[in-house]
Amino acid sequence: MSSSPPRVAITPADAAGDRDWLTSPVECGSAAGFGVYLHVPFCHHRCGYCDFAVAAVGGLDPARRDDLEGRYVAAIRADLARQVAAGRRAHAPPDADHLDDRWPEVTSVFVGGGTPTLLSPERLSSVIASVGEELDLAAEVEVTVEANPETASRELFEALVAVGVTRVSIGAQSFTPHVLKTLEREHTAARPLMAAAMAREAGIAELSLDLIYGTPGETADEWDDTLARVLTADVDHVSAYALTIHDGTPFGRRVARGLLPDVEEDVQAQRFAALRQVLGAGGFEHYEVSNPARGSRSRSRHNLLYWRHGDYLGVGAGAHGHLAGRRWWSTRSAPRYVHAVAAAGASAWGEGVTPLAGSEVLDDAQRAAERLFLGLRVREGLHPGDLPPIQPLALEDALSAGLVETACGRLRCTEAGWFLLDDAVDRLTV
Ligand SMILES: C[S@@+](CC[C@H](N)C(=O)[O-])C[C@H]1O[C@@H](n2cnc3c(N)ncnc32)[C@H](O)[C@@H]1O
Ligand code: SF4
Repeated sequence: MSSSPPRVAITPADAAGDRDWLTSPVECGSAAGFGVYLHVPFCHHRCGYCDFAVAAVGGLDPARRDDLEGRYVAAIRADLARQVAAGRRAHAPPDADHLDDRWPEVTSVFVGGGTPTLLSPERLSSVIASVGEELDLAAEVEVTVEANPETASRELFEALVAVGVTRVSIGAQSFTPHVLKTLEREHTAARPLMAAAMAREAGIAELSLDLIYGTPGETADEWDDTLARVLTADVDHVSAYALTIHDGTPFGRRVARGLLPDVEEDVQAQRFAALRQVLGAGGFEHYEVSNPARGSRSRSRHNLLYWRHGDYLGVGAGAHGHLAGRRWWSTRSAPRYVHAVAAAGASAWGEGVTPLAGSEVLDDAQRAAERLFLGLRVREGLHPGDLPPIQPLALEDALSAGLVETACGRLRCTEAGWFLLDDAVDRLTV
């Protein structure tokens, strides 16, 4: 908690040099909690649109795959242990004098992929348990696992409950068969809700569905049908993303060759409007640009940590961590990650052979832009005590352009500003 009184939303220009928003935040930064992200890169097949750090293992000889997965689990456990042993100061920027070396209690754990649920329940449980073995967990820690529908089983979810998982995020993407086919998904349209029912019966407290909209060939009626199916499902949360076609992915190459139509921004805007309208009428609160939830208890605490510019360890191939303005990331290749962790042996984290691929320290101007860009994604925006200094003229410009507004003393995006976040942040950071 900040000891200084909350500042008004219009931060005076003479506050330049004020760093309370970094060193004594109210809801952001170190006040947002502390998380651990664990990346499991294995997928049966790489979907044509996916740009995440993925290792497709479906075509591997079973013995080789088993060996790689076993060594990866050992590596992720060893990497977490080394990061924790190095202490907090080793991860922070050199000038973070306000931080001591102890790790805070973990408030959220997120096991993402890839397809974490491709691992055996024993191996996945071992990955999750490693966090509690190395760090103190908060009493109400949120533990999320991403699950692909075709990997779901009652036994798997019971094993996850036993190891403390509180939340499962199921990659449904769409309930329209031809859209799933275009997306190269390996499950039927019925499977995600069967998976959700299994997870609920096994005792998973919070359930989320991932959706993708604006896939070429998807009609407005088909998207409406997907949303109607969500409302009939027993789920608490939805993450809905506009399809992004990245260069370098199979979809990117097909679009470049004219074999797949590109996404259309106006169509995606219409799908987003339908998402807001249908789920809003069905009792969901759209608390972040891509995330509606059935009430504030069902918000994703781990993702809120990201949007509130918080601190988290990132462990696994391609995983990113962040602490007080320093970011680091590991090599994206699973075999290289496994090799580097094993070769690092007992050396200190980040020294000698290391799975680290890079790190950077952000300056205050970069952190200010990031604080605004992330914080304004959330519907209620930023508390005045978490706002970086903003020049009055810059604020006036963003307000009069209709991109931001003040509400209950907080700065937040308007409905229009949510679509034009880059523009809003550019104006605020002049
Ligand atoms: C990295 S994936 C992992 C989840 C899981 N493997 C699955 O596919 O069900 C997390 C989510 O990101 C979203 N996603 C991945 N690539 C995307 C893209 N190019 N455009 C939009 N959303 C994407 C999907 O909704 C996906 O469920
Ligand atoms: S299953 Fe998920 S992580 Fe794997 S390739 Fe498909 S979208 Fe990416």
